[in-house]
Amino acid sequence: MKDIRRVGVIGGGLMGSGIAEVCARAGRDVTVVESTDAAADAARQRLEASLKRAESRGKIDSAKTVLQRIDVVTEIERVADGQLVVEAIVEDEAAKTDLFRRLDSIVTDPEAILASNTSSIPIMKLAVMTRRPSHVLGIHFFNPVPVLSLVELVPSLMTDTAVTERARAFVRDDLGKHAIDCQDRAGFVVNALLIPFILAAIRMLESGFATAEDIDQGLVRGAAHPQGPLALADLIGLDTTKAVAESLYEEFKEPLYAAPPLLARMVEAGLLGRKTGRGFHTYT
Ligand code: NAI
Repeated sequence: MKDIRRVGVIGGGLMGSGIAEVCARAGRDVTVVESTDAAADAARQRLEASLKRAESRGKIDSAKTVLQRIDVVTEIERVADGQLVVEAIVEDEAAKTDLFRRLDSIVTDPEAILASNTSSIPIMKLAVMTRRPSHVLGIHFFNPVPVLSLVELVPSLMTDTAVTERARAFVRDDLGKHAIDCQDRAGFVVNALLIPFILAAIRMLESGFATAEDIDQGLVRGAAHPQGPLALADLIGLDTTKAVAESLYEEFKEPLYAAPPLLARMVEAGLLGRKTGRGFHTYT
């Protein structure tokens, strides 16, 4: 089986830039595709800042060398020769299905793996958009990608076992990640457990039961969580948190997955958490 040398990453936001970084740090040539020039500039800046941080902490020898392996472009055709393409665009089913249809006609190697970093959209919905559902699977990284070691591997009913094993070998041996296997159900393992917990914290705040600060301090100091659930929602992004909750609700129809009105209002207001400077907490 051919080695994965060239990786395409579609979407250079929070997750896409992190995925590009870990692949480039593992010596791969990476092409990141963004939708606009402004978003491509933002992705370059995010990558540069993160790699400089890694260099200053002694995690890598040279940010410059790693950056030289990453191209950030706006033409999706540039991922045509990749052996692995990871989709990390917004958590929107229509946008993702359209993208998989396009990737199927663009990526030339029939052995190439088409992966999605989706948090909650069933992989099968993306796989059936292609003529190669056997080569589509979920490779779900965690935020921040260079720091968190977990990857959820999510084959659909149609994924070839050899494709899953090739993806496993890449994330384990080349990226140094720990993979867990999940069935193709909305939310996989981690978000199916984490999102109801975050939503319960938002409902607690919404009802006036306790302040955001006290809810988070409660879990940090009383349950040894590294950060509270509202700070975690701010880190994930409230738009992404809401989108994931909606996919879970759509899949299971359980009230515990229903996004509370406060979350919806905050997203409408553009209070998206860390990425906009304000969510349940304020960031400077
Ligand atoms: P984000 O909003 O930071 O980034 C999404 C990026 O995709 C944006 O830069 C946008 O310009 C770009 N984009 C949108 N449509 C595009 C297209 N058609 N072609 C190229 N680029 C396009 O979102 P984030 O947080 O990076 O999430 C991306 C995916 O990763 C989502 O599916 C999300 O559920 C998943 N995810 C998010 C995690 C988190 O903690 N935020 C954790 C794990 C997975």
